Amino acid sequence: MADQAEKLRKMIEEAQKERDKEKDSSIEKFKKGDARIIAVSSGKGGVGKTSITVNLAVALSKLGNEVYVIDADLGLANVDVLLGLIPKYTLFHLINSERSLDDVIIEGPSGVKIVSGGSGIRELANLPEEKVYNLIKNLAVLNKKADYILIDTGAGISDMVLDFIKASNDLFVVVTPDAASITDSYALLKNISKSQENVYVIVNKVESSREADEVFSRLEIVCKRFLKLDIQKLGYILDDFKVKDASKNQKAFFVEYPNSAASNCLKLISHRLSKVEIEDKKEGRFASFIKHVFSKK
Ligand SMILES: Nc1ncnc2c1ncn2[C@@H]1O[C@H](COP(=O)(O)OP(=O)(O)O)[C@@H](O)[C@H]1O
Ligand SMILES: [Mg+2]
Repeated sequence: MADQAEKLRKMIEEAQKERDKEKDSSIEKFKKGDARIIAVSSGKGGVGKTSITVNLAVALSKLGNEVYVIDADLGLANVDVLLGLIPKYTLFHLINSERSLDDVIIEGPSGVKIVSGGSGIRELANLPEEKVYNLIKNLAVLNKKADYILIDTGAGISDMVLDFIKASNDLFVVVTPDAASITDSYALLKNISKSQENVYVIVNKVESSREADEVFSRLEIVCKRFLKLDIQKLGYILDDFKVKDASKNQKAFFVEYPNSAASNCLKLISHRLSKVEIEDKKEGRFASFIKHVFSKK
């Protein structure tokens, strides 16, 4: 009896190992294409992830890049709402194999391509693991077409958010001066520090660059001390009513108010990002891929 139980346990373990291997390989395949895949996440909601994802996509597109935005904040997806777009098909149809990837891509401002998450589809918020990996496998096709793939992951540390972060080349964490935002960002970073080491911070809704520096320092110190994780400052965005104004009109602020304070901050970030990209190319995609493989858990 004990023998049989042992055999069964081994079989289950083997099957799980096989599944894990398959998942890891789909994640690696996704990551090693030509596009730079960036997960935009945060500890808590309402910090400006979606605004930043969409407008950064526009800024990068204006610099001559082919940019895709994937709204993976399933359950609370709102990239399309922010832009006043009404997609016919969404990730929901892709996940359920009802539509192809091409069917769910819509064109947003400045030629940015958008894969909508489908607003308010609650059941997608707790997608089973298999479906998440299947989705990642589907999205891998974009790697050949895009220069950048920005993924709005939603807030917090659900398994799906962590999977998307793991499947990306970089993680951009959006944080605000709010104390809860800083502690929740730390909680997020604690969960990903073993699977993603390229962490960039964007400090949003600040009054000054000095305030942004202070917020970044607070996070940097605890990450270094307790997680041995070196995070990098990518930039900041000033608190600017034009951001809210544009979103009320369902427009991208970078298009509506290109010379606003927020747009100028975002311009700096997109230029800095292009520079990071150059440095990354120098290091070489292969070296970067190897680094990712060996930095895995
Ligand atoms: N820099 C900013 N200045 C002023 N308001 C902002 C700024 N960034 C975001 N907002 C506003 O904050 C709210 C939440 O932003 P949103 O992008 O939806 O956050 P998240 O996706 O993290 O939940 C929105 O009303 C948005 O217009
Ligand atoms: Mg959002």
